[in-house]
Amino acid sequence: MRHLLANIVTYSIALLLFIGAVLFARMRSSQYTLTYQSAVLAAYEPTPGGEFRWRQIGAETYTRNCRSCHSADGRGWDEYPGVEGADSIARTAEGRARLIDIHIHGLATDGSPVPMPGMGHLHDVEVAAVLNHIVEEFGTGGSVETFTPEEVRRRRAGGNDSGPGTHPAK
Ligand code: HEC
Repeated sequence: MRHLLANIVTYSIALLLFIGAVLFARMRSSQYTLTYQSAVLAAYEPTPGGEFRWRQIGAETYTRNCRSCHSADGRGWDEYPGVEGADSIARTAEGRARLIDIHIHGLATDGSPVPMPGMGHLHDVEVAAVLNHIVEEFGTGGSVETFTPEEVRRRRAGGNDSGPGTHPAK
């Protein structure tokens, strides 16, 4: 009887430790990816011809994933460049593709002592939203066509030609 009780206690403790470890791992991994659950993001997916409501997701994605390097006002700091130029880059088709690629693959040019890490874990909705955010929030003004999740998806699907200076796709 003593043995049985001792076994039950031991196995219960082991089970609790295991559950704790699983919960901790889940928590850490959601912090690590810094992204929303797909179900949440799917709600922001525009319907065909519908409007893309990117503002909140764009601002939050910037805060979570970009601000530490490019700073709250988008002007960068230390070795990290500002992103004010994004709106002029976003005016040409090549520029738009480049901006999307920078997010999917990262960027390592000779002009910068530090690389930008790839953000391939971000969902298409987040990439499109954060690009609209930096264009509107930090740009010099003027009209730039809205980035859509569809535009990012197309680039992700077909865009292995990630251009000079970028990391290869993971
Ligand atoms: C760990 C730091 C870091 C993070 C986080 C980061 N970047 Fe960068 N980013 C850089 C660096 C460094 C460069 C320049 C790399 C180079 O030129 O080789 C860069 C370049 C850029 C450029 C290109 C600027 C230009 O004119 O060529 C854009 C746009 C940009 N980042 C946007 C973002 C956005 C949006 C996010 C968040 C989703 C982000 N970055 C997250 C470090 C970072």
